[in-house]
Amino acid sequence: MGLHSFREYDREILEEGLGADVNVVIAIDGPAGSGKGTLARQLAKRFGYTYLDTGALYRAVALALLEANGSVKNERDLEVALNTIKKNLTPELLKSNLLRTEDVSQMASKVAAEPFVRKALFDIQRDFAANPPNGAAGAVLDGRDIGSVVYPHADIKIFVTASPEVRAERRYKELQLTGTSVDYDVVLAEIVERDERDKNREASPMVVAEDAFVLDTSSLDAPEAFSHAMDIIRAQFIDATDEK
Ligand code: C5P
Repeated sequence: MGLHSFREYDREILEEGLGADVNVVIAIDGPAGSGKGTLARQLAKRFGYTYLDTGALYRAVALALLEANGSVKNERDLEVALNTIKKNLTPELLKSNLLRTEDVSQMASKVAAEPFVRKALFDIQRDFAANPPNGAAGAVLDGRDIGSVVYPHADIKIFVTASPEVRAERRYKELQLTGTSVDYDVVLAEIVERDERDKNREASPMVVAEDAFVLDTSSLDAPEAFSHAMDIIRAQFIDATDEK
């Protein structure tokens, strides 16, 4: 079977399981460095769906706040930062390297703990999932709480995880490739600190949704993780179709 027809076959399975006329939503959640972003992008490409990196939304608010010298404790500053990103939100901004610094990462998890910010960003995420841009037949969103809070009715939910050591190693290698000199132990400490904040905040903490499939990528590379995810999706939809 050629690559093209194999892709068509995957799509057919999804459509048979779901009904061809519905908009498919795939939720990929997990902590930093779990490989959720790579997996979500690959799935979106495979099925021809649009992809949203929801962490980038929190990062964009954090960057706007840092650039305005605002405080995360000041609601007015947060409001200004939110308005700035609502006006300037483009696919280019969401991919920008400016969002990938350690300062922005830490600030993103602080702004993400503010219910006021989360609520404003929920609307953007839900609208994207329900009406994927460019008329796509579905959307893939990655984040921390997509399957649990943002879109609990998502058709497929995968929670991607890996040990903190493996995640820190991945992040460390990424930083080395960009020429940033860092200490592995510092990267690990920052990952653990961000996990703690994301898991223990009151406003939609990072949790595994009840009906999510857990995919541990500690000993998997990206192609292996993708192949496991495809197995999960096929199993779910072949089973769903068989039960009809
Ligand atoms: O996924 P990423 O590391 O880019 O996310 C940055 C921060 O944004 C996370 O540490 C988390 O606090 C927050 N976030 C969130 N909910 C999401 C996505 C990200 O709280 N759906």
